[in-house]
Amino acid sequence: MAKIFIDEKLVEAKDGETVFQAAVRAGIHIPHLCYHPAFVPEGSCRMCLVEIEGLPKLELSCSTQVREGMKIFTQSEKIGEARKGTLEFLLAEHPLDCPICDKAGECKLQDYYKEYGLFESQFKEAKEKREKKVRIGENLILDQERCVLCTRCVRFLNEITKTQELGVFERGVRSEINIYENNLVDNNYSNNLTELCPVGAITDTDFRFQTRAWLLEKGESICSLCSRGCNIFIEYNPGFARIPRKKRVYRLKSRENSEVNEYWICDFGRYGYKYLDEERLEKIVQNKNGKQTVLSWEKAYLVLVEKIKALFLRKKISRMAVICHTGLSNEELFLIRKIFGDILRVEKIFIADPPQGEKDNLLLTAERTANRRGAEEIGFDFKPLDLEVIALKTDLLLIFGHFLAESFSLSDIKNALDKIGAKFLFTSHSSNLNDLVDIVLPVALVAEASGSLTNVDGKVQRYSPVLETCGDARALWQVLLSLAKELKINYKYFYPLASSEAILKQMGNEIPFFEKKND
Ligand code: FES
Repeated sequence: MAKIFIDEKLVEAKDGETVFQAAVRAGIHIPHLCYHPAFVPEGSCRMCLVEIEGLPKLELSCSTQVREGMKIFTQSEKIGEARKGTLEFLLAEHPLDCPICDKAGECKLQDYYKEYGLFESQFKEAKEKREKKVRIGENLILDQERCVLCTRCVRFLNEITKTQELGVFERGVRSEINIYENNLVDNNYSNNLTELCPVGAITDTDFRFQTRAWLLEKGESICSLCSRGCNIFIEYNPGFARIPRKKRVYRLKSRENSEVNEYWICDFGRYGYKYLDEERLEKIVQNKNGKQTVLSWEKAYLVLVEKIKALFLRKKISRMAVICHTGLSNEELFLIRKIFGDILRVEKIFIADPPQGEKDNLLLTAERTANRRGAEEIGFDFKPLDLEVIALKTDLLLIFGHFLAESFSLSDIKNALDKIGAKFLFTSHSSNLNDLVDIVLPVALVAEASGSLTNVDGKVQRYSPVLETCGDARALWQVLLSLAKELKINYKYFYPLASSEAILKQMGNEIPFFEKKND
């Protein structure tokens, strides 16, 4: 530990830490473009200059290590002038295309110009002409005129993915970032480059010209497309009152978590966001005598409770089956296990997950659901699902999720379901299964509800709603609690479980793995 002073504030710096890192920990902002905490400092943008007592010149805070007693100043007239001069050079070749740049509104050059620049350009010479639209990856466009050569993109591909698809070519004023020959940036993490680029030189074709950054709001969530549980921001357009909108979510961004995903997310998760808006189920629909009727939740509960009670009273609960999936939250899986397994004593509880996919060595896992580990800890049995057996021995089937259709052909599912008297499907999306059951009930996604997921490494991560639920959809844990209430089972147990936090706490009381996981 070294005691240093930044802007006369005493800061305890860690051994080997740089001035910049100590300042960040102390909550002191120093402008920067090339610095990124994941990489070795490069010191190329020169925006992070600070004054250090006893040293004649300004120093780069991103590459200067702290020393005991160091006195550092991050704000002074001299520093302001230096930053202004640096910016003038950085902007010398930068085009004035902010009005059509996707980065506008979240561009560090814009921010710093407003904070330190505000100069009249002294350049009489024409700006250097470069390529405006170089395709460097399937979804990546490079505008070489906007690039300030911070090399974050090059360092990411050298140090993190180790795929080295980009390099700096030429020298001096002609230096530019480019791919080697026609070899595009082609790895599972390619679009982290758009996030890393501080100035809008690298843009994402999926987001390009779709909206403006200042029209978006963002909320913290967890990616649920594989079992890593990467921390993300969901950026969405909240819309306008009384104007219906089909597209809410415009992009996902990584959210730092050193225990899970560091600063990155994979392209599979990043571009998988469209399921949040597309094909969403909004109403409870009953299929009866070839007709479809919209039901209220109250009516749907009534029908379902009647069916469950009828089996229970005839001591035929063995004729009931439940199919769920491990994309459900810890709380939802726990309630399914508790209500159907422990209380109603349903023996046929199966899991139907999406098939496994490709994995890589960084973040992406083969499991294409978010909470398989949670299901294991809760005690789910992953016995193989046999549709034929279910069909012959079941009078009432509850299906949670639409993933059955990813493991079986539609005709096999139809043949099996045709033999079952009553079928209920709780799902977030419309699918081919909808017409094969009696009642389809809409439920919320992770982005629209609260709860927790256990990732592949056993880390329990809680989440809160970012988006509103679609139509009449409700969080499944709320639906399950209402069902328990309507069934009038164990009121004393279920009554206090009024929130996802309360359910997780109860899980901690009953399952050692979930003890102290309520933070
Ligand atoms: Fe220090 Fe760029 S952040 S030189």
